[in-house]
Amino acid sequence: MRIINVNDLNNDMILAKPIYYKDYILLNKNQKNLAKYKIRLLDLGINYICIYDELSEDIEIDDIISEQTRQKGIKTIRETFNNIKINKDIETENIKDVVNDIIDEIFYSKNTIINMVKLETYDSYTFSHSVNVAILSLLMGKIMNLNKNDLYKLGLGALLHDIGKVFIPEKILKKNDELTEEEYEVVKRHPILGYNYTKENTDIDAVSRAIVLHHHERIDGSGYPEKQKGNETHKFAKLVAVTDVFDALTSNRIYRKQWPVHEAIEYLMANAECKFCYDYVAIFTRSIAVYPNGSMVVLSDGRKGIVRKQNVNFPTRPVINIIKENKRVETINLMDNINIVIKEVL
Ligand SMILES: [Fe+2]
Repeated sequence: MRIINVNDLNNDMILAKPIYYKDYILLNKNQKNLAKYKIRLLDLGINYICIYDELSEDIEIDDIISEQTRQKGIKTIRETFNNIKINKDIETENIKDVVNDIIDEIFYSKNTIINMVKLETYDSYTFSHSVNVAILSLLMGKIMNLNKNDLYKLGLGALLHDIGKVFIPEKILKKNDELTEEEYEVVKRHPILGYNYTKENTDIDAVSRAIVLHHHERIDGSGYPEKQKGNETHKFAKLVAVTDVFDALTSNRIYRKQWPVHEAIEYLMANAECKFCYDYVAIFTRSIAVYPNGSMVVLSDGRKGIVRKQNVNFPTRPVINIIKENKRVETINLMDNINIVIKEVL
């Protein structure tokens, strides 16, 4: 299995992970003749998909949680947001179920490194983003040995961090151009609106609500809504600040293309200590595959290859299947070839 740019699809490839549109399956696993779907996928905002082909037979791209739990999470968040919009009470039990399912699966999973592959459409961004931020935050929580009670509060706050966006006009949220200053001021109200909503209408605990209110605060006081500095912000809100920014940067948006994982990680590292908590950035960068399994890469010696598997604790030095003239020629471990580095992701 490997990750391929939709522009490079051809009819010898078979779809390895299903593509969802809203709550429906747009393309099923094992779908053939993929070339004809290029334009449709790009129009929906999907730039990369997972395929099977001869070059990548021995490569696995494991997700840390099951497709079923991920889709249940997205559906629950979509329904929650829609119910708030039409002034209907929300089912907090369903949301809590999703958090508990993610916690259970992350604990069960032997993986401590996530291979991020974004298969979401423009349309489902807010909902997939909420679920991704919950998954990434809970994986960090597992690495930090948080107890179940703390994990639950962290997961619930992470899943609902952007609930206040329900109250921001869609024409601003879905604008395909840069926001004006006035529009940005409106968007910046979402943490307070979300906090007020959860306080007045739900039994969600104070720690989870602090995440909703403070996930845009920054260590140097440059964030919002309260311009908190350093330790004024709850530690879980500081943790979610890291996973929120990472997931936003690596998502494909209508107004800008998704960033590759290694660039988003560089951004976080460059801003660690001034904007983000250094320790959380350090934990996070150890739990994410900088070059996810299945990525096509170019090495510093000019050879091309596909990332086969990760070396734990050495995120920039995975094992690579070298490809020459569309054939697999050898497998090299970058841990044994320290003079070679990954130069580019295709
Ligand atoms: Fe937000």
